[in-house]
Amino acid sequence: MSSHGTPIPMTSRKAAPLKGVAEVPGDKSISHRSLILGAMAVGETKITGLLEGEDVLDTAKAMRALGAEVVQHGPGDWSVHGVGVGGFAEPEDVIDCGNSGTGVRLIMGAVATHPFAVTFTGDASLRSRPMGRVTEPLSLFGTVSYGRTGGRLPLTMVGAESPVPVSYATPVPSAQVKSAVLLAGLNAPGITVVTEKEATRDHTERMLAGFGAEVTVEDTEEGRVISLKGQPELTPQVVAVPRDPSSAAFPVCAALIVPGSDVLVPGIGLNPTRAGLFTTLREMGADLTYENEREEGGEPVADLRAKFSPDMKGIEVPAERAASMIDEYPVLSVVAAFAEGTTMCPGVKELRVKESDRIDAMAVGLRACGVEIDEGEDWFAIKGLGAEGVPGGARAEARLDHRIAMSFLICGMAAKEPVSVDDAGPIATSFPIFMELMGGLGAQLDRVNA
Ligand code: S3P
Repeated sequence: MSSHGTPIPMTSRKAAPLKGVAEVPGDKSISHRSLILGAMAVGETKITGLLEGEDVLDTAKAMRALGAEVVQHGPGDWSVHGVGVGGFAEPEDVIDCGNSGTGVRLIMGAVATHPFAVTFTGDASLRSRPMGRVTEPLSLFGTVSYGRTGGRLPLTMVGAESPVPVSYATPVPSAQVKSAVLLAGLNAPGITVVTEKEATRDHTERMLAGFGAEVTVEDTEEGRVISLKGQPELTPQVVAVPRDPSSAAFPVCAALIVPGSDVLVPGIGLNPTRAGLFTTLREMGADLTYENEREEGGEPVADLRAKFSPDMKGIEVPAERAASMIDEYPVLSVVAAFAEGTTMCPGVKELRVKESDRIDAMAVGLRACGVEIDEGEDWFAIKGLGAEGVPGGARAEARLDHRIAMSFLICGMAAKEPVSVDDAGPIATSFPIFMELMGGLGAQLDRVNA
């Protein structure tokens, strides 16, 4: 179900070899940030390759509600006429971020140092997620927030009239928290500093520098220290959004487990803060190669070639790699089910507070598919059944979570019996062309009756 629609149950059955080129859409994290930073620059930012998933479209709407002019010129081709740092106007209505934790948390940061109130809401998944991790550091700028129990949405934030700069060490590894603080720091005088123990995706820092802000990043004993000089004039940019490694993960993993497959996934951003899954798959013995490695817009990019890999072995994924593949654990757990031996995933507590509790959602669905999985608060372990060994034959709950829905559909492509999901609608939040793209490679995906 999309945030507004009715459930879309889908079934995935054993696919013939997957073959061809999978052109996945633009990066979700970079798409949100292009719109928000474009809205805070003075003048017109041009964006190509923008992800037109529901999450990003909700952020575009929010930027319009705050006074920026956001225009679509063609598929993926957008412009944002920004209002400048400190130039947002009080929105007339509630800001509805749909399913998007990134959207709501980054926008909270961006408005936090403006002297007006904004009320935020979202779908049932987003309304259940913790916002205290963002409202707490934003209160240091002088912001006051009134949410439901546990700081949940709907939540009204009253922005700081006279913001002060902030120094904050993030207690959880979260790029959203880091980014919220940095975006709030844009409209505070002086230097705002964020320290993170483990490196999380660094698109905000890179893009702030690209838009002309003074940002420095230092590796210290306490972790990565990011310092931002407040109240810059951001200069509009031409942003070419790279293709999303988190979306590439699905055709790549499908090709590794479907016998006879050979799929090329071109132009994928391999920023080290995002590429942990591909390293892990290669350590498991996946036939996954990087072709035509190059640099685009300051980011490492390559074409990924993934071939059926019947001899993958379970491994222990290093806990310190978790942040660089946090969104990929659901689909990794599917690949692990088709490998030999156990795959152990420690240090993944954050999975419990994503669009769903992803450890529980995968554990329940994979068990129904005949896979053994153990879990604790911050780890899970999957006992692989080998390339031809996963029974399938179950219906999994997507829990309003796009990555859970896609992961089980990938599972069905190689399991002995079909695998269904109760609702594939949420896939539209991040990968609206998933069905056509996977179908084009040879996947057998069908809509079924509820
Ligand atoms: C994102 C950060 C991550 C990730 C999300 C996108 C971002 O969330 O899971 O899909 O664009 O900043 P956390 O900050 O909660 O780790």
